Amino acid sequence: MSDSKVIVALDYPDETSALRFVDAIEPASCRLKVGKELFTRAGPQFVSKLVDRQFDVFLDLKFHDIPNTVKAACHAAADLGVWMLNVHALGGSAMLSAGLEGIDKSTHNPLLIAVTVLTSMDDQALSEIGINNSAEQQVSLLAAMVRSAHLHGVVCSAQEASRLRSESGDDFLLVTPGIRPASAAVGDQKRVMTPVKAVEAGASYLVIGRPITQATDPVAVLAEINQALNT
Ligand code: C5P
Repeated sequence: MSDSKVIVALDYPDETSALRFVDAIEPASCRLKVGKELFTRAGPQFVSKLVDRQFDVFLDLKFHDIPNTVKAACHAAADLGVWMLNVHALGGSAMLSAGLEGIDKSTHNPLLIAVTVLTSMDDQALSEIGINNSAEQQVSLLAAMVRSAHLHGVVCSAQEASRLRSESGDDFLLVTPGIRPASAAVGDQKRVMTPVKAVEAGASYLVIGRPITQATDPVAVLAEINQALNT
C-alpha cells in the first residue's frame, strides 16, 4: 500500500529489467503500472509477483470487447489482486457495466477506470473514424458516460484534468500520464505538465514512466517527486 500519488509506468522490455527497479524501491513509495508490452512478455505471474511484494498494481490492458468478454477479463484481472484496471470507454455503457460486474464477481475489489480518447488522437484522427465531435467534446461526453456507469474514474491528460474535475465532481478519479518534472526530457509526449501542477489541476494519480525509469538514479528521482508533492 502506498500514500503516494505516483504510479510508475513499468515500461521495461522484460521482467529482469523491471525487477531491477522494483527491487530498489519500497511499496510505500509508489504504485506500479504494468502495460501491454510487459504483460505480454512476462504474463500474470509477473503481476502476481508484484502483488505478493505488497505493491499496488495498475493493470493497464485497456479492455475493449463485447460485454461478456470484458466481464470475464475484468474478473480474471481482479482475481490477480491488482489495485486498479482499465477498459476503453468507446466500448459503450453496456460494456462498462459488464466490466464492473466482472469485478464484483471477484473477492478482490480493484478500482475500474476507463480511457476516453487516446491522447495520440486529435480531431482529424477522430473524424477519420466517423467521430465529428472535437477531442475535447468527445472526452467530456465519454467521461460523463463513465461516471453514469459508476466506474471509479478515467485516464486523461493533465491538460484535461481541471475541466473534468469541475464537470465530474470530487470523487471521480483522474489518472494522468504525460507528466514531466521541470528538469526531465519531454520525449515523445506533446503536452506535458509537472507533477505539482497536475495535482493542482485536479489529478488524483500521476502516471510517470521514463523520467523515473530511464533516470541514472530512478530511486532518487522518485523520492524528489514524492517530496515535491508532499510540500
Ligand atoms: O514515459 P512516460 O512518462 O511518457 O510514460 C507514460 C505512460 O503512460 C506510458 O506507459 C504510456 O503508455 C501511458 N499512457 C500515455 N498516454 C495515455 C495513456 C497512457 O502516455 N493517454
